Amino acid sequence: MQQSENQPAGIEISLWQYSENEGNWNRWMQSLSTDERERAATYRFERARASFIAGRYLLRQLLSVHTGISPSKLVFSADKHGKLKLEGDDRLQFSLANTDGLVTAAVAPGCDHLGIDCERSDTEIEAAAVDSYCSADERRWLAELPAREHTHAAIALWTLKESHLKALGVGLREDPRNVGFSWNDGIPVMVDGGDRDRRWHHRLVESSSQHVVALAACSQSGLPGISTRLFQDDNMPSE
Ligand SMILES: CC(C)(COP(=O)(O)OP(=O)(O)OC[C@H]1O[C@@H](n2cnc3c(N)ncnc32)[C@H](O)[C@@H]1OP(=O)(O)O)[C@@H](O)C(=O)NCCC(=O)NCCS
Repeated sequence: MQQSENQPAGIEISLWQYSENEGNWNRWMQSLSTDERERAATYRFERARASFIAGRYLLRQLLSVHTGISPSKLVFSADKHGKLKLEGDDRLQFSLANTDGLVTAAVAPGCDHLGIDCERSDTEIEAAAVDSYCSADERRWLAELPAREHTHAAIALWTLKESHLKALGVGLREDPRNVGFSWNDGIPVMVDGGDRDRRWHHRLVESSSQHVVALAACSQSGLPGISTRLFQDDNMPSE
């Protein structure tokens, strides 16, 4: 579909609850670069290795559709803070996140910055940890919430902050307390840490009840449409 000049290109979010029992690692690995395979081999725990392999497999599948380049021929480079770039294509913004059992990626041709993060919704966050990433206002807001909403809200704040810091490319080198969020009609709004010249948009993405997924996008031409889909591995051999 052709994009009109005034219409911001959409943001595509893909969620993949891959099965660790599929026995497909070797097939996923085939589209990975030598560097990626070497990195995969360094993971001590199988779950972390599967998660890394699945993430890079997913990313390559998605970017192949956008570029027309086969997944295994795509070349990534990472900057000094670890943010990935696609060699030869400055137009595509993308971001990747992994958590236990889920990999998620966002791809957008029309954004200036893009970040995604996901966490399990049952992640236990201790009070001391909340203090280490929430601003004073956020801590007050959390403290007023009923206990049943507290965990979800604390994870939502964490994923929003991390998605924003990933969009900026600085990651947790920047203190997450400096990026503050509030809510407007249920939509997260960044109240601290924003750059006035930039138009930031933050969203919590509908996923499963097991995960919280947050997106940060900077686009001068307004918030692009967001589409979310569950990734299907079409290359999976039929039984
Ligand atoms: C970015 C960061 C918050 C990711 O945290 P995490 O919970 O471990 O991982 P997530 O699942 O959320 O995201 C992983 C992906 O983030 C991306 N990423 C890594 N560093 C990034 C950065 N600085 N900015 C944006 N994205 C980054 C990568 O694509 C990575 O995928 P990979 O594991 O396949 O390479 C963390 O790595 C960080 O703070 N990095 C910056 C600190 C730094 O400079 N480290 C030195 C690295 S060279």
